[in-house]
Amino acid sequence: MTTRRTLLAGAAALAAAPLATPLAASALAAPSRDAAGPSLNDLAKAKGMTFGSAVSAGVIAGPRRDPRYTALLERDCGALVCENETKWVALRPDAQTFDFAAADTIAAYAGAHDMALRGHTLLWHHPDWFPQWLTNYDFGSRPATEAERVLSDHIRRVCAHYPQVFSWDVINETVDAQTGALRDTSLSNAMGQRVLDVAFHTAREAAPHAQLVYNDYMSWEAGHEAHRAGVLRLLEGFKTRGVPIDALGVQSHIGSGNQDDSVGFDTAQEREWRKFLDEATGMGLDIVISEFDVHDKNLPADPVVRDQAVADLGRRYLDLMFSYPQTKTVMAWGMYDPYSWLQGRWPREDGGAKRPTPFDAEYRAKPLHGAIADAFRAAPMRTALDITPANRN
Ligand code: G3I
Repeated sequence: MTTRRTLLAGAAALAAAPLATPLAASALAAPSRDAAGPSLNDLAKAKGMTFGSAVSAGVIAGPRRDPRYTALLERDCGALVCENETKWVALRPDAQTFDFAAADTIAAYAGAHDMALRGHTLLWHHPDWFPQWLTNYDFGSRPATEAERVLSDHIRRVCAHYPQVFSWDVINETVDAQTGALRDTSLSNAMGQRVLDVAFHTAREAAPHAQLVYNDYMSWEAGHEAHRAGVLRLLEGFKTRGVPIDALGVQSHIGSGNQDDSVGFDTAQEREWRKFLDEATGMGLDIVISEFDVHDKNLPADPVVRDQAVADLGRRYLDLMFSYPQTKTVMAWGMYDPYSWLQGRWPREDGGAKRPTPFDAEYRAKPLHGAIADAFRAAPMRTALDITPANRN
């Protein structure tokens, strides 16, 4: 397998070398730049998988609504997930109130277009992402009891409001990426790390038909060893204690600029990554690719070269992930470059816009779209997860 270093070197060489003839240039650019080809979800479905995307309510309704973008979603997606609207910060302006308006926009849109709904997230157990009121909450004289009440009320209300959700990220990112230890929040300070088990048990009661997922961003990269080990410890603990967990969410924000650019997805890294996935699937867990995009921070400026490098890495990654029959869901973290969360973070040195998703700023399919399609075509068949709302309570 090519290392990221060779990938980048190859891409840089391509960028530096003038293309011999206009024909060569168009041959390089041709695959899937303008025509998106078959629907990604149709290709996924043919292999027992589902393809979908994160979306924000603002593109569906309101002054920033974008019908050209929603047309892409309707064409390619069999499922949607709220990018932000079902997080505590969005749903819970204060301890008493639930504000479902923005998330309802997405749920109604998905329902109207026959798209299933994933849920993200019942508890982002990370102090940075708690609403202020929850961080400062006075849990009173019986803090453990009150914390459990606040948590389980939230989970019950949200699950009851969205009974169609086929898969919930019950806990998101509670393993400290540097140390592998569990993070502390106001809730865990009040009730201990039991908070995690209680979240899963409550979710099982409140959403008995939904797949229950632990979601995190560990990867094969150098510096992620403690993170991977911490996640495996957490999963093992869940299994030992009989906590109802069905799947590991592998966020899959892959690509350049995430950590250390001198280390890539080479054979040694791939071996480490497979070891991690073997352990997780060995516990009987399914795999959800929950937030897929390919960061192009350090790739060459030339869009043709850059898009090809993004597509190549995406394809290699998906091929590996699809070799596990436990991988049944692929959610892109956005489908259109200008809306990607990566635009606002870790700027490129040349200041250029990023190109981490399947569609460019002109709504044209990029090579990454073709790479995802080809990975689905090449994937072995698997037993599908039931995502039909008819099976929900
Ligand atoms: O909606 C407000 C707006 O009213 C306000 O004017 C503006 C000013 O900053 O902020 C807006 O909220 C932003 C929100 O995105 C919606 O755009 C928040 O500041 C910003 O922090 C938030 O970022 C999101 C981030 O999670 C934190 O919640 C990203 O869009 C979202 O892509 C990202 O998603 C996470 C997953 O949930 C978990 N895994 C990692 C992934 C990427 O970071």
